[in-house]
Amino acid sequence: MEPRGLGDRLGGLAALVMVVLAVLISALVFNVSGNLVFPVSHKFNGREGASLSKFKAHDDRRHARILKATQNAVDMVLGGNGHPTQDGLYFAKLGIGNPSNDYYLQVDTGSDIFWVNCAECGKDCPTSTKIQGVKLTLYDRNSSSTSEVVRCSDKFCTAYGEDHEMAKCNKPDDKCSYLIQYGDGSSTSGYFVKDEVQFQKASGNFETSTISAPIIFGCGTNQSGLLNNPNVAVSGLLGFGNANITLLSQLAAAGKVRNKFAHCLDNSKQGGGIWAIGEVVEPKIKYTSPMVPNSLHYNLVLEKIEVGSDVVKLPTSGGGGGDVSDGSSYQNEAIFDSGTTLTLFPPELQEQIVDKILSKEPGLQLYKTQHDEFTCFDYSKNIDEKFPIVKFTFKNSASLMVYPHDYLFQLDEGSWCHGWMKSQSGSSEPPVILLGDMILSNKVVVYDLEQQVIGWADHNCSSSIKVKDDESGSDYAVQYHNLASSDSSGLLGLFNF
Ligand SMILES: *[C@@H]1O[C@H](CO)[C@@H](O)[C@H](O)[C@H]1NC(C)=O
Ligand SMILES: *[C@@H]1O[C@H](CO)[C@@H](O)[C@H](O)[C@H]1NC(C)=O
Repeated sequence: MEPRGLGDRLGGLAALVMVVLAVLISALVFNVSGNLVFPVSHKFNGREGASLSKFKAHDDRRHARILKATQNAVDMVLGGNGHPTQDGLYFAKLGIGNPSNDYYLQVDTGSDIFWVNCAECGKDCPTSTKIQGVKLTLYDRNSSSTSEVVRCSDKFCTAYGEDHEMAKCNKPDDKCSYLIQYGDGSSTSGYFVKDEVQFQKASGNFETSTISAPIIFGCGTNQSGLLNNPNVAVSGLLGFGNANITLLSQLAAAGKVRNKFAHCLDNSKQGGGIWAIGEVVEPKIKYTSPMVPNSLHYNLVLEKIEVGSDVVKLPTSGGGGGDVSDGSSYQNEAIFDSGTTLTLFPPELQEQIVDKILSKEPGLQLYKTQHDEFTCFDYSKNIDEKFPIVKFTFKNSASLMVYPHDYLFQLDEGSWCHGWMKSQSGSSEPPVILLGDMILSNKVVVYDLEQQVIGWADHNCSSSIKVKDDESGSDYAVQYHNLASSDSSGLLGLFNF
């Protein structure tokens, strides 16, 4: 199974050394067991049958800009990595309850709900994990003085029920329950509760202070699939999707933050990165493209894909897109999804891209990993010199470059695999274009829900960014975090940058 050789949590400097060791040892583990299965996360929640009232809510939100002096920038402490052979996911740490405990939650722009594993769960929730930097704690509402159960009569429950499947809601007094299924086959169910959640607000350069707000989130009582797999389990999931019931929407509606966030996912050896709520002022965002109106997810119109100097032929109908609102033509759309490790394309498109990339270096001996998951080859030269850059162009001439070190990953020394995968059409959904961590890493990606645009700029995600603090009118530096190697924020705080 997931070949994470040394799963034990290690603190301090030892962890840094162990990460390197773990990579080496995991390579041995594959060969010995010959059992190669990767923890490739795909937390995209398609949400079939969403209702139209949802779309109206989007429009309302677009026009409602609440500007209050209390709006802060929030620094979400990050860990994890997008390596398919390691964690395959990014997570943030949040304090919940009174007294507060820390929870480690996968951060996902492809789904909406924020939930944690609850104490009632018993065996139906994970009790151990091999992900470094994660400590699993079950949320026990009986031991938090501020915990409340959300009922079916609550406004939140009605809004949730409008575009998500509800488990059951017969009487107004019933608990508001949920059931969510994700693209990797995992699922979660439970009921909603409200409690105090602690955030780190940016209060100076590389400085934060704790604020809290009552937030509605799911108390998970049953997890299946990767969510209950001890190799890749986390405490829960933090949906940053494009719905108005997310943690971000709740905070924005309360006037605590701006309705915008950004991430910078580090995909170098160490992982971690930056995830911040608020407006990014540095680096300057180079490209922006409008979100497709009335979409359930973060969709952008994809106009062109080039592999080196070759133009890829895009579909003119079928999956991965939608009809332009006047029905006159077809457009390709790509979804930005941090909860998916790799990149998913409709099969014909994936084949074209892979053929064009691999043909640049003729004579490669290709082989498949077990269960045909990945296509790999041995290569000892510099991949960034020989393989082409893949360039995506979105509406508004917004170009996004994907370098060989972003789309190829190392299986072990001298052997590389590519991360372009085929999306399968589900029972009722056509195959989609999903851009996961592989494409989203090593750049600042901003999701501006007020202006309804997504933007990006290449950036070193192990450095820092600057965010605007509306309260003081100042710009503050927010730094890189990596929970796997003991967070460095304490250190920087000491040196007082
Ligand atoms: C979300 O939208 C629904 C309507 O679809 C509305 O009733 C609800 O108040 C909205 N919630 C927030 C937090 O804006
Ligand atoms: C990224 O930034 C970190 C921290 O400032 C630095 O140590 C590292 O060398 C930088 N990486 C690159 C590729 O510039």
